[in-house]
Amino acid sequence: MRLMLLGAPGAGKGTQAQFVREHFGIPQISTGDMLRAAIQAGSPLGMAAKQVMESGGLVSDEIIMGLVRDRIHAPDCESGYLFDGFPRTLPQAEGMRQAGIRLDWVVEIQVPDSDIIERLSGRRIHPASGRVYHIRHNPPRLTGVDDVTGEALVQRDDDREDIIRTRLSVYHDQTRPLVHYYEEWAAGGDPQAPRVARVDGTRPVDEVRRELEYLLVLDRT
Ligand code: AP5
Repeated sequence: MRLMLLGAPGAGKGTQAQFVREHFGIPQISTGDMLRAAIQAGSPLGMAAKQVMESGGLVSDEIIMGLVRDRIHAPDCESGYLFDGFPRTLPQAEGMRQAGIRLDWVVEIQVPDSDIIERLSGRRIHPASGRVYHIRHNPPRLTGVDDVTGEALVQRDDDREDIIRTRLSVYHDQTRPLVHYYEEWAAGGDPQAPRVARVDGTRPVDEVRRELEYLLVLDRT
């Protein structure tokens, strides 16, 4: 299974990635998580990315392609991978295609902008594992702590309303056009092209998961 989850910030990519990676036993490659780890480590890459991420913009295609090219050659990617938040621009999608990094599926999780602010302002994360919660829609068993480790949950620096609005605008300008890019590629009949599907991300977490299961596990389009 080689899959990309595409959707606006807060659409539920990270939440659903938990189910996909456990079901298929594949790694989740989240460029956002990789960048946050670099910031945490204080590496030169992290220093370069920090300001851009805090403003809601996109990190350069060159940096992102370098990160992904290194990660995709790790042994755990041999039986597949899940991209969460990558590719995010047409040059990244083209770079990936030219590097021969294959995708079987591109799945867009659709959520209107009007739902996103409430979702992201209530989000809490467990940074070490990437587990994602919401104070109302997907709460941890105990307020403020991770279900598995009992460690404290945190709020992301870019989950502030003004920054969320910038991220949404960047998504519509630079990332959403990828749906059309992949649809056109598939329509051309190229056997290398991924299949493209959409799921309604406004429903409860479990219902979205069941739809993904129906699509990917039972292979029903
Ligand atoms: P990244 O970390 O990728 O963030 P994002 O795309 O903005 O997506 P999010 O993680 O915010 O949302 P999500 O869809 O995963 O939602 P989640 O499941 O958490 O990127 C951050 C930054 O890094 C970018 O802005 C950019 O600067 C940089 N970057 C990263 N990749 C890059 C790239 N390729 N190129 C350039 N720059 C890059 O859910 C959100 C909340 O909603 C949670 O609280 C969850 O519990 C709740 N929720 C989920 N599903 C539901 C549901 N069905 N109903 C109700 N609530 C739900």
